[in-house]
Amino acid sequence: MKAESLNSDLRDLIDFQAKAVSSHYDLPPKFFAGFLGPRMAYSCGYFADEDNTLEEAEENKLLLTAKKLDLKKEDTILDIGCGWGSFLFYAVENFGCQAVGITVSKEQAAFVNSVAEARGLKDKVRADVVHVYNMDYPREFFNKIVTIGAIEHMDDLHRVFSKSAPFLKEDGLMLVHGMTKPWSAREEELQGISSEVGEMVKEHFGVGYWKSLWELMEALEKSGFEILDHENITRHYQLTVERWLERLQENEAMLVDNIVPEETYREFLVFMAGYIVGFETSHTLCNQILCRKISCGDLRPALPLTRENIVLHSGKGCLCKKD
Ligand SMILES: C[S@@+](CC[C@H](N)C(=O)[O-])C[C@H]1O[C@@H](n2cnc3c(N)ncnc32)[C@H](O)[C@@H]1O
Repeated sequence: MKAESLNSDLRDLIDFQAKAVSSHYDLPPKFFAGFLGPRMAYSCGYFADEDNTLEEAEENKLLLTAKKLDLKKEDTILDIGCGWGSFLFYAVENFGCQAVGITVSKEQAAFVNSVAEARGLKDKVRADVVHVYNMDYPREFFNKIVTIGAIEHMDDLHRVFSKSAPFLKEDGLMLVHGMTKPWSAREEELQGISSEVGEMVKEHFGVGYWKSLWELMEALEKSGFEILDHENITRHYQLTVERWLERLQENEAMLVDNIVPEETYREFLVFMAGYIVGFETSHTLCNQILCRKISCGDLRPALPLTRENIVLHSGKGCLCKKD
């Protein structure tokens, strides 16, 4: 009886979260195309130089992520929170991988699946409308798992990672990319003195909060992952959102009333400005964490000795070379 009522609580929570989060992502893709780059990556770019364009930063981030995951043609990838498929299509089209994405947004999944069809990639890539707690794939089906800019919406990271671990092959890799808060901001939040920035973002999405980096790492370790690498990419996210905000303002006339009501446009203006302030004032941080599954007693694989294979060297423009 108790287990049943817990399950129904969880079902209610999943429904609530999926609805709250979808209300943002189910807005017309054309609206997001009015401020994102051509790949529709709705997450932090990577700047090899402060003057990089959004397009360059988007390409650099996808390349960096692919390098960290050591993508190979034979890889089968799970992308948790796939958005409009930026990483799915990048991995399939540049590396020849197979890829499945999940999202709570029906609009996003429809977008990914129609692009896949239009590009003749239906047998290589698809998006499922699934809440992360409801994922159901064969054991050890994937050898790479990635989650980019989605953990912010998830309340229980231990549940997320322990749900993901069985789907990953023993020698697989997982990359977790997401925002955290420094402990001082988390402490305020735990005492109910949330900063205005945090409140505003929570109000906008209706769900989710940023954990501290150690909470994220704790959830990973307790779910059976070893952290191989961590990179703080906070400055990159500030530069990314500054470019989104510029584009949004440039495209105001085209977007307002034709695609979204003025109220939605204004809400996004405030929301982006809030993010920029959050990064600028050390309320919000952004990270990429690379991990693998670990079990005491298992023979350790020969992992690379240096970080050389997972860095992008600084320089002008786009660093879009595969190696
Ligand atoms: C900011 S977008 C990032 C999209 C994509 N990874 C990218 O980099 O462009 C967050 C994504 O996480 C998904 N998401 C949020 N909460 C989720 C949940 N509980 N289960 C599955 N997907 C979720 C959203 O539907 C959305 O696709």
